[in-house]
Amino acid sequence: MIRYAAGALFVLALSILTVAHARHDLLRLPTEARRFFGGAPADSDAGADDDSVGTRWAVLFAGSSGYWNYRHQADVCHAYQILKKGGLKDENIVVFMYDDIANNKENPRPGVIINNPHGEDVYKGVPKDYVGSAVNAENFYAAILGNKSAVKGGSGKVVDSGPNDHIFIYYTDHGGPGILGTPAGPYIYADDLNAVLKQKHAARTYKSLVFYLEACEAGSIFEGLLPEGLNIYATTASNAIESSWGTYCPGEYPAPPPEYDTCLGDLYSIAWMEDSDRHNLRTETLEQQYELVKKRTANDNGYYGSHVMQFGDVKLSVEALYLYMGTDPANDNATFAEDNSLSPSSQAVNQRDADLLHFWHKFRKAAEGSDRKAEAQNQLAEAMAHRAHIDNTIKLIGKLLFGIEKSHEVMNYVQPTGKPLVEDWSCMKTMVRTFEARCGALSQYGMKHMRAFANICNAGVKSEAMAEASAQACTTFPSNSWSSLIRGFSA
Ligand SMILES: *[C@@H]1O[C@H](CO)[C@@H](O)[C@H](O)[C@H]1NC(C)=O
Ligand SMILES: *[C@@H]1O[C@H](CO)[C@@H](O)[C@H](O)[C@H]1NC(C)=O
Repeated sequence: MIRYAAGALFVLALSILTVAHARHDLLRLPTEARRFFGGAPADSDAGADDDSVGTRWAVLFAGSSGYWNYRHQADVCHAYQILKKGGLKDENIVVFMYDDIANNKENPRPGVIINNPHGEDVYKGVPKDYVGSAVNAENFYAAILGNKSAVKGGSGKVVDSGPNDHIFIYYTDHGGPGILGTPAGPYIYADDLNAVLKQKHAARTYKSLVFYLEACEAGSIFEGLLPEGLNIYATTASNAIESSWGTYCPGEYPAPPPEYDTCLGDLYSIAWMEDSDRHNLRTETLEQQYELVKKRTANDNGYYGSHVMQFGDVKLSVEALYLYMGTDPANDNATFAEDNSLSPSSQAVNQRDADLLHFWHKFRKAAEGSDRKAEAQNQLAEAMAHRAHIDNTIKLIGKLLFGIEKSHEVMNYVQPTGKPLVEDWSCMKTMVRTFEARCGALSQYGMKHMRAFANICNAGVKSEAMAEASAQACTTFPSNSWSSLIRGFSA
């Protein structure tokens, strides 16, 4: 009986995880790209070495917790090492990470985090500014704004920047339309984040700011929301309507070492970081990195991959990466050539399926009849049950609100390019909260349905009607750990 159930789960999991054929060849860059890197154009070097660039600041934010999300904290640790080698000081790098990976009982190398199958430890030396429940939206905003008195918990380190300074913000985790995850609710909403960036600009406490963002539907965070003129240049792992991808996952090539049952990195994140790792960043521009990252993340094969996008003041992309990341002196002679080009991984795993992949590999490897096997089976079953619950109730609520005929069209409507997914963000938050009060937490998987909540608002539904539909759809409150509201509401 148990074996049958596990087999059925396996088939389901496999069908979700079907990914690309192996592709082992190296990425070859077109001649134009090589020319970019071959000879450093004189103007991109201008001013790079004098002190007039001001101070470089960075905020690094890993939005998840749980061993199955290993890769996000690994990404952030790796980003820290790049900046540190680039010459930034710890006092100028603000790190948000839940910090439950290095010493997790599942971690095969205690105290160590890697972000590449052959990679070294990236955990060593990472400042633990905000860990555990201090990794939250309010502290993120306060850190960006440099408002020490608004921070709760953590080291209190904030971006205390001045008008000549350059700021780099890097976020990696799960997301959804208009939303970015945090380990505990409430999540980061696009309108709040853009309001914080506008406020930072109004305070005149930076010269320019670069934001690298990895999440599903990451483009929806800035599309129609981040105006030009704030001296902010952003790139995102995906456009507004697609997933982003985990990489270096079990079963891929290159695979993590066999003792790892979890993905080590994310596709877009790895692309920019492995590029920054090996080049002289005085001579490489934001634009050059964008083109390389776009190419590596898109993966021409089409089985997986996403569209890397640019937002805000795209004209800033002529600047050297050095202004934001510094540069590792060991790379001073590293001009770009074919022999150090990046190799794409052969496969990738949808951001939202990486947890199932972890539970499945854990289950597969555990000894027959062991507690570990039962635990893994239970985790897989609970994750799948939560998905079914969320998908089904949202579908049902759509039918209750809009009728069987129109529901699908209304709930899945995608705004035209350049428009935000909702006008009234407080309505969207109210709808999320109303839903969760009756139906349980959306959790990381449920973020994918944010567009439906947006469209419920766009259609002018009143919160009383939403409360009634939610009550009808969810007659009992699920007890499953994914649905529990212990970590708070998403809105
Ligand atoms: C800093 O945060 C505190 C507490 O939230 C708030 O009262 C204050 O106005 C903020 N200061 C600035 C400069 O935004
Ligand atoms: C770069 O090349 C110069 C000249 O060949 C050499 O003196 C220097 O040590 C090299 N730097 C690095 C970091 O390899």
